[in-house]
Amino acid sequence: MKVAVIGSGYVGLVAGACLADVGNDVICVDRDTAKIEALKDGVIPIYEPGLEDMVLRNYQEQRLHFTTNTPDAVKASDVIFIAVGTPPGEDGSADLSHVLAVAKDIAQSLNEEDKVVVCKSTVPVGTADRVREVLVAHSSFTAHVVSNPEFLKEGSALKDFLSPDRVIVGAANDDAAKKVGKLYKPFMRRSERILYMDNRSAEMTKYASNSILATKISFMNEIANICDAVDADVALVRKGMAMDERIGPHFIYPGVGYGGSCFPKDVRALAKVAMDNDLDPQLLNAVESVNNLQKQRLVDLATGFFQGDLSGKTFAIWGLSFKPKTDDTRESPALISIRHFVEQGATIRASDPVAMPNSEAELADLSDSVSFHRDYYSTLEGADALFLFTEWNEFRSPDFKRIKALLNHPVIFDGRNIYDPGDLRELGFTYFGIGRSSLKIS
Ligand SMILES: NC(=O)c1ccc[n+]([C@@H]2O[C@H](COP(=O)([O-])OP(=O)(O)OC[C@H]3O[C@@H](n4cnc5c(N)ncnc54)[C@H](O)[C@@H]3O)[C@@H](O)[C@H]2O)c1
Repeated sequence: MKVAVIGSGYVGLVAGACLADVGNDVICVDRDTAKIEALKDGVIPIYEPGLEDMVLRNYQEQRLHFTTNTPDAVKASDVIFIAVGTPPGEDGSADLSHVLAVAKDIAQSLNEEDKVVVCKSTVPVGTADRVREVLVAHSSFTAHVVSNPEFLKEGSALKDFLSPDRVIVGAANDDAAKKVGKLYKPFMRRSERILYMDNRSAEMTKYASNSILATKISFMNEIANICDAVDADVALVRKGMAMDERIGPHFIYPGVGYGGSCFPKDVRALAKVAMDNDLDPQLLNAVESVNNLQKQRLVDLATGFFQGDLSGKTFAIWGLSFKPKTDDTRESPALISIRHFVEQGATIRASDPVAMPNSEAELADLSDSVSFHRDYYSTLEGADALFLFTEWNEFRSPDFKRIKALLNHPVIFDGRNIYDPGDLRELGFTYFGIGRSSLKIS
């Protein structure tokens, strides 16, 4: 099939590459000229395992093309995906300006009947109707709008797209829905996991899915904080909970709060949808406020340990991305905490396998107080404590003797509970985890 994907970010580029990889003719569009030129030169603008190989291969084999020209891409395609960002607006609602601007661009370029416009961006209920209105207002050709929210996870995006748990296809027109379903058939070799529904239910499914995942994280973080208060070990509590099949082991790991470009904005956007419909989204609001507090957790623990005075302290930070295997630092707990540390007079020495360029850009205003180091052990030189924010594999089993020799104080704040408190006790560290105060060592 001939496909255009408008918006070549985390979602658009992955979708475009995967659809090309199974034989479709795909044009990836972006308004960012530098991004498109880089892609044509074989430079992938984001870090995502496996993506570079797939993009280069399909580009060389001429199934994947890059352009800034939306009209040409629309004219050449039967199915046009919208995969632009839907950032939070000031009131928490999803900012649909990019989606609606692209819808208008598409409408003005339609050159035949029955093209299918697929909304892959995460959008509030009713957006498909608004896209439809824009198409009708700006074109004399009929186009069909399909809602096809994306569920990939950064860090395993290719695997998720190539082998999805489910594909949601929401549409008012059966033929348009089937056309989109057909695009996904090659990814359904073992079992059919395409669920057809109406546009509104499809749009809602995405928000509901992200919101329950965020809820699980905030719930577990609240449990961890209660564990801290009552000297229980959340690592054991979690295992005990997970053995109940109704609860299960997934997504119940406490930590420093969720970040990234999806959960925070999607929880807020769904709460705004509820409020716009005269409902009081008490649970969603609580999920967000627990998360905001949790992002402050290591700062609070450090403030306690250093008796309320962080000025003049130097802290080593391991991990800057909001989770491992991505360079995405949007709403990352590490960057938020770094700002708090610097506000309190601390100096930061930070390292991350791939997220340093994005972090450096985001923290440019703090360049006097924050330095970045490729070698993560060098962050420890002259540092008063080590903070682990992101559980990258390379941080899981470090040389603790070397860490102890380099630090001024042998203190570790483990924001992801990846270290064994017993091992650290033997080595003479003071250890702070999340919900593990029963194991606090001093
Ligand atoms: N990142 C994820 O893990 C993920 C997962 C599922 C769903 N989503 C949703 O998918 C959507 C896209 O997210 P993303 O992370 O890929 O965003 P992104 O910011 O990485 O990419 C969006 C791209 O769209 C481009 N763009 C914006 N306006 C444009 C226009 N008018 N014409 C052409 N290009 C334009 C931008 O330049 C950018 O490259 C969002 O709604 C997001 O919520 C994201």
